[in-house]
Amino acid sequence: MTTAKQGEELTRVGPGTVIGELMRCYWIPALMSSELVRDGEPRRIMLLGEKLIAFRDSDGRVGVMDHRCPHRCASLFLGRNEEGGLRCIYHGWKFDVAGNCLDMPSVPPPDFKQKVKARAYRVVERAGVVWVHMGTQAEVPPLPAFEILDVPDDEIRVSFIQRDCNYLQALEGEIDTSHFGFLHAGHVNVENVSEDEPLRHTIIDRAPKYHVTDTPWGTQYAGYRPAGASRTYWRFGNFLFPFWTQAPNGEFASHMHARGWVPLDDTHTMFVFFWWKHAVSAMSLPQPAFTDGMPIGGTGRGNEFLPNTSDWLGRWRLAANAGNDWRIDRVAQQNGSIYSGIDGIHLQDQAITESMGPIVDHELEHLAPSDQMITRTRRRLLIAAQALRDRGVVPPGADNPCVYREARSGYFVSSEGNDWRGVYASQLAEAIHPPLPAMRAAE
Ligand code: FES
Ligand SMILES: [Fe+2]
Repeated sequence: MTTAKQGEELTRVGPGTVIGELMRCYWIPALMSSELVRDGEPRRIMLLGEKLIAFRDSDGRVGVMDHRCPHRCASLFLGRNEEGGLRCIYHGWKFDVAGNCLDMPSVPPPDFKQKVKARAYRVVERAGVVWVHMGTQAEVPPLPAFEILDVPDDEIRVSFIQRDCNYLQALEGEIDTSHFGFLHAGHVNVENVSEDEPLRHTIIDRAPKYHVTDTPWGTQYAGYRPAGASRTYWRFGNFLFPFWTQAPNGEFASHMHARGWVPLDDTHTMFVFFWWKHAVSAMSLPQPAFTDGMPIGGTGRGNEFLPNTSDWLGRWRLAANAGNDWRIDRVAQQNGSIYSGIDGIHLQDQAITESMGPIVDHELEHLAPSDQMITRTRRRLLIAAQALRDRGVVPPGADNPCVYREARSGYFVSSEGNDWRGVYASQLAEAIHPPLPAMRAAE
């Protein structure tokens, strides 16, 4: 079980918190590159409980910094983005993307602009996304070596979706594979789906067996079920430090992707999803269908977004949310056409994890053997965060991003026997990979 104290340590992300300091050892995907226009309006963003401003200067460089002007703390959100920097509209002080004060026009000479610095974070752009490093160390590591980040940019798809709950319960929804046969497919009868429908195996046996282990990048599970004559249906999934998952919702051989659960603050999370457009996965396969060709209820594609606003938490919000009960359809729930009554796999997961409340009260839980991936992941996170706090031990992958390179998730059927680590290694060796880059420096 997770105690109240452990729950608090695992879920709080602000400066000085146990997990918050761990998160500050890693690169964080913050916003789409397309959200920032040269000399365009600054954006308010929230990351790890800090209110920040992001802007793109006249040369195309991106700055991410504390929104408060270092003079008298007026918000730089109101600032003028002009001629290579952001100028505070209160007294005209101006800052470049690194936080250097370029101009102090309200102060008679000699001014002291070389002594003033806005609190700016390091930034890189990759795969159409602005990444921020909020650590204080002099040297920052390269970006995580996810295979998907080595795929050419024009083959990578990215989406952002805000979720209104703590990052941990959002992330745990991804490594909780036993919910699939209920929340997403509880209404699907195996007689009504064809042999090659990918979700067939998950409904033949709704209580699969699991292996769970620690890995260099975090934790991994393999759910497995019999799949006919001495064959096994495998579903591998991963947790990757500090807030990433890889889900088994695609064919293992091509499923290069990474799913980030970025803590905006203690009670809001941004889902940031990178995937390869040529992968055979839930994003490229047709909507699941019954043998008669009718789409399986609740598996609708696409998400309806509210318009983005300039609020700290106003970006990439779904139109179906707690305020309208995630548009649950009680008729569909009762007549068996959609088990949950909610249409869309992502929305079902979103509704469930938001319905737990802003931060789960861990003392009320009754974790089962089928939750062992969740308990192991919590323990791995907590041990790493405490080792950082108590002994300064750098957490997994933070300064050795190559550990992520061996992480893959997905499903496959195999007759290779039950040595699950061996099965994983042989499937990984046969899978599609991007060319191995020379280890990239943080550009
Ligand atoms: S508060 Fe920003 S210039 Fe004075
Ligand atoms: Fe799910």
